Amino acid sequence: MTVTAIVGAQWGDEGKGRIVDALAEQMEWVIRFQGGDNAGHTVINDHGEFKLHLIPSGIFHPGVKCLVGTGCVVNPAVLLEELEALEAAGVNTANLFVSERAHMVMPYHRLLDGLQEVASGKSAIGTTKRGIGPAYSDKGARRGLRLGDLLRPDWLEARLDQAIEFANRELVHFQQTPVDPAQLLDQCRTWGEQLAARLVDPLPLIRQAYEQGANILLEGQLAAMRDLDWGTYPYVTSSNPTATFAPVGAGLPPQAVKRVIGVVKAYTTAVGAGPMPTDQGDNQTAKWLREKGQEYGATTGRPRRCGWFDAVALNYVAYLNGFTDLAITKLDVLDGLPELKICTGYRLGDGSIIQHVPDTPVYETVEPVYESWPGWPKNSTAAARTWADLPEAAQNYLNRIEELAGVSIRYISVGPKRDEMFTK
Ligand code: GDP
Ligand code: IMO
Ligand code: MG
Repeated sequence: MTVTAIVGAQWGDEGKGRIVDALAEQMEWVIRFQGGDNAGHTVINDHGEFKLHLIPSGIFHPGVKCLVGTGCVVNPAVLLEELEALEAAGVNTANLFVSERAHMVMPYHRLLDGLQEVASGKSAIGTTKRGIGPAYSDKGARRGLRLGDLLRPDWLEARLDQAIEFANRELVHFQQTPVDPAQLLDQCRTWGEQLAARLVDPLPLIRQAYEQGANILLEGQLAAMRDLDWGTYPYVTSSNPTATFAPVGAGLPPQAVKRVIGVVKAYTTAVGAGPMPTDQGDNQTAKWLREKGQEYGATTGRPRRCGWFDAVALNYVAYLNGFTDLAITKLDVLDGLPELKICTGYRLGDGSIIQHVPDTPVYETVEPVYESWPGWPKNSTAAARTWADLPEAAQNYLNRIEELAGVSIRYISVGPKRDEMFTK
């Protein structure tokens, strides 16, 4: 009986959704603790294939309660669409709750995200254009609208006036049509009616579950290398995907979290701009990983940047998150490669080698230092269901990753489906 956080250990898209789906069965609650519909969490199971943007990946287990937590930012239109799509696929969503304290992503946030990116020209971040940055900015500036506001008409109207005044100043600056407050108020009333039954003050529920010793899973969005404070700023998201934030976003005390599982791909990918030292650009390795791993964004469809495994970044992230276990995904994508590389250090301009992640202006200049490991070109890991089934070269590769990370590997995934995974 414990609280477990599942977080991304690289630059996102590590396979968090599939790990949460596989582990959710033993849980009473699954809680998304930050981020918004910038997430694309793929889950493939008996119900079909889903790319979840807001709804926790535990939704497929009828006995599990799911919460979109207080630390999230929620576009009500996207949430309603996602609910509809799940229901249409025969998934029961009766157990999906949403924190009334979570902030809303409004239509003008999306618009502004896109406009700000275009205006940034060459220094654009490469956001998902889902309005995440503008929504969290409004939250920080204390002019944000929260889902609970939808249920309190007078309060909503006053808060909306204040928020729109600012949004319109921005929109006018970008020569856009200002938001019509009456129209948006109407839209909010409709959302309120559609979501009322799911909006809860989560604290009494979560507190009771925690105090009764329930199993609770905290699902992270994105990953530590895009953390607002410790990622590759400014090429980051506008929330904290690290496990330290998980209890805040979920409504738990810090000591509640007993296990932190870092989800890590057997190689590295990223979408969006900013440093990624092991990026292989468009060379043969990158092409292999992108095609075999189907590395195209689940939310935006953008081709992902691909490269070798970065153990320096993993060690940094393991410390920051306090990983107790690693879940390695997509090992099968490396089947067929004769040689693998692991980045074990970063070379600076003066020739010295460091073993930590420096701040972005320096990080942009580092050269990866690699060690080479033999692949298993004649074997496959895809059918493996135990550690002993893996080719020896794959075991050696994983053992080395474990050693460099300083954290034990507990789960190994060799395919996208629920059962294509085993424990070490
Ligand atoms: P998330 O955002 O961390 O949940 O990850 P994404 O869903 O964006 O990206 C992971 C992709 O890899 C999805 O298309 C998954 O279906 C797929 N996937 C996950 N685990 C494995 C695996 O072990 N092997 C293979 N081949 N694909 C996997
Ligand atoms: P999941 O949860 C991969 C990236 C964007 C951009 C930066 C900021 O599926 O792993 P944002 O829209 O958050 O303001 O964009 O973060 N990014 C993701 N990359 N997977 C995601 O989600 C991402 N969510 C945001 O590409 O670089
Ligand atoms: Mg994803």
